[in-house]
Amino acid sequence: MKILVLNGSPKRDASDTMHITRAFLAGMQDAGPQDVHTVDIIDRHIEYCTGCFSCMHNGGTCIHRDDMGALLEEVLDSDLLLFSFPLYCYGMPAPLKAFLDRTLPLSSMAMRKAGDRYEHVEQADFSHLRYLMICGCGFPNSRKNFEPAVMQFKLSFPGDHTILTIPESPMFNAPEAAVVTGPRLELVERAGTQYALTGSIDEALLEEIGTPMIPEEQYAAIVNGGA
Ligand SMILES: Cc1cc2nc3c(=O)[nH]c(=O)nc-3n(C[C@H](O)[C@H](O)[C@H](O)COP(=O)(O)O)c2cc1C
Repeated sequence: MKILVLNGSPKRDASDTMHITRAFLAGMQDAGPQDVHTVDIIDRHIEYCTGCFSCMHNGGTCIHRDDMGALLEEVLDSDLLLFSFPLYCYGMPAPLKAFLDRTLPLSSMAMRKAGDRYEHVEQADFSHLRYLMICGCGFPNSRKNFEPAVMQFKLSFPGDHTILTIPESPMFNAPEAAVVTGPRLELVERAGTQYALTGSIDEALLEEIGTPMIPEEQYAAIVNGGA
């Protein structure tokens, strides 16, 4: 499978979240060879969308001349888009959001009803794409935290999406936390294998991956320097 990893962390390889993403990809590789290309979004020249909509009217050409044209070609040439990013203010980091906005040329201005919502009619064929979101965050709680990012991802990619959210992610970069992060990464690896083999991950495993690794109060106390 051709996998395009969109690393939305400005910390590049040092990203807490990328520990989770690498474990997931290792699990996928266990199921069979995968063709993985990782893009550090922070290093790409991606101008902000100006909202002129010219791309949606003239067959998909954006007014900007930056790295986005080549990235869109790579998107269309992939089987799986893996968005790996830290939760920033309950959403995705700005550079990755700029990338998402700039996928507009793939759609035309025309809209159609899809169930109880509307969506734009595509002007490129991306029907083969699958979408995966892996999101880490700094707070110990999953609820009242990930929901906006999860909803944005589901609405942006209604077709074939899978979502992993993991709280307390800074622990993945703390060697002294290996006793709890190791087993969590093993679960993530298992999820990767399952995804590669079946195209989905069972709900119980996703739920387990999304729970705090240590009790919330203990995590908060460590962060606050009290333990
Ligand atoms: C600007 C900014 C906003 C953040 N907003 C949130 C947030 O809304 N919820 C949360 O739990 N953590 C938040 N965090 C913490 C990060 O999600 C956390 O540090 C994460 O582990 C960083 O992952 P990375 O190393 O992959 O970039 C924020 C961090 C930054 C720098």
